[in-house]
Amino acid sequence: MNRNKFFIDGKIAVNRRLINEHYLMTVVISDNFPKPLPGQFIMVRLKGRHEPFLSRPFSVYQYNHQDDKVFIQILYRIAGKGTRILSELKRGVILEISGFHGHPFDILPHASNVILIAGGVGVSPISYLASHYKDNIHNTDMRLSCYLGAKSAKHLLGVETLEMSCSSVEISTDDGSSGYHGMVTESFACNVAAYRPDQSFIYACGPASMLKRISEILCDYPIPCQVLLEQRMACGFGACLGCTVEVNGAGEMKRYVRVCTEGPVFNIHDVIWE
Ligand SMILES: Cc1cc2nc3c(=O)[nH]c(=O)nc-3n(C[C@H](O)[C@H](O)[C@H](O)COP(=O)(O)OP(=O)(O)OC[C@H]3O[C@@H](n4cnc5c(N)ncnc54)[C@H](O)[C@@H]3O)c2cc1C
Ligand code: FES
Repeated sequence: MNRNKFFIDGKIAVNRRLINEHYLMTVVISDNFPKPLPGQFIMVRLKGRHEPFLSRPFSVYQYNHQDDKVFIQILYRIAGKGTRILSELKRGVILEISGFHGHPFDILPHASNVILIAGGVGVSPISYLASHYKDNIHNTDMRLSCYLGAKSAKHLLGVETLEMSCSSVEISTDDGSSGYHGMVTESFACNVAAYRPDQSFIYACGPASMLKRISEILCDYPIPCQVLLEQRMACGFGACLGCTVEVNGAGEMKRYVRVCTEGPVFNIHDVIWE
């Protein structure tokens, strides 16, 4: 199979509600489904159904290869019609999956501090990235520190999975019911001065307001940072222009780029935050 592009059927093995509007779906694929790179995404739609017609983009949360089967998990939140329909699907239903879309995160094998910041379902690509570092980068001097935010202790997702890969997981909750009392960005801001910019690298995924706040914090601390944008998409392969965002170009120039093809991973200071 071509490592870079495929269209494939996947059968739902498990689709269960975790908390509130958040679900975890495990899809079994009998083919030799290649492993996506961290930051790449898949487009998912219901096979043979025209409502919703368009596929929806998701990050892969976990990937496991056993015998001749591949199990992929997506962690998702009901955001609208498509994800609501997804949440109602039962075991055995066939999905159409296409991928791998987009540019992956840069991997920094020699960084001393890899800092991960996740909010909401942004924990999915961040967790997958953390597993990638743990499994593939054998640098004993590297510290993998994660900052994970949620509304309350009840809304925290993926803590145990992150703890398996990271040196530390700093939790913050808006209501103070677990960990730091406040936004994940402010928990990170408390520690940012301790990271040497030339030895550190940040990855972040979460609501746009969270990413914007990180960009403000990093104006004073020039640590390189990549963000994954969870933009609404229609086609997923560059044809419809439905996913464009404005970024800084050369000099004073600004330009529009497609998140599905030029992203979804961007350098944080390239994005123009509204
Ligand atoms: C690369 C990538 C990875 C992603 N990974 C995940 C993941 O792992 N888990 C996850 O849960 N989600 C993920 N998402 C987001 C997910 O794709 C969307 O939540 C999903 O497509 C929503 O589809 P829907 O049909 O349920 O909602 P839609 O009906 O498409 O609406 C979603 C929300 O957007 C609002 N909206 C509608 N139109 C517009 C508009 N023009 N502009 C702005 N907002 C609008 C709606 O009011 C609604 O609140 C990812 C997105 C990207 C791009
Ligand atoms: S989703 Fe169609 S161009 Fe990006």
